[in-house]
Amino acid sequence: MTLLQTRPPLPSDDKRWKLVNATMRRNGYAGHALIETLHSVQDAFGFLDETAMRFVAGSLDLSLSKVYGVATFYHLFLLKPKGRHACVVCTGTACYIKGARGLVEAIQERYAVRPGETTPDGRLSLLTARCVGSCGLAPAVVLDGAMQGNQTAGQVLAKLERLD
Ligand code: FES
Repeated sequence: MTLLQTRPPLPSDDKRWKLVNATMRRNGYAGHALIETLHSVQDAFGFLDETAMRFVAGSLDLSLSKVYGVATFYHLFLLKPKGRHACVVCTGTACYIKGARGLVEAIQERYAVRPGETTPDGRLSLLTARCVGSCGLAPAVVLDGAMQGNQTAGQVLAKLERLD
């Protein structure tokens, strides 16, 4: 008898979950795909949060503690940033060509934070991702989970200024 594992649904209709799911599917949802999958989460979202880790654990049939253990053991994985707001600038090829570097530099200059860092007042974390799944909207920024396409440095800085 074949036991069919039930996999959790994608956490939302955010296209980035499809990128993560594709990595797991390519590996037959096998447990050995864990590290590659966590890389895929970080490439798409810029960091790993509990939602992502629960989704990966459920999909690969691993315990949440195992996924947390691996995510926290390897320094190259970034856990959810501590800032009240998270600004993820996509620096994948399509976005890079359309000026993503200028966006990162503008934010760095204004807030004195580098990618992966949070401002000392805890207001803003800056992150980069390798592709947020919206190349047609390059350069793309994900601000507090909301996709913002065709961004200029001026537009991004204006949005960041308005945050509490
Ligand atoms: S490279 Fe930026 S959305 Fe794909």
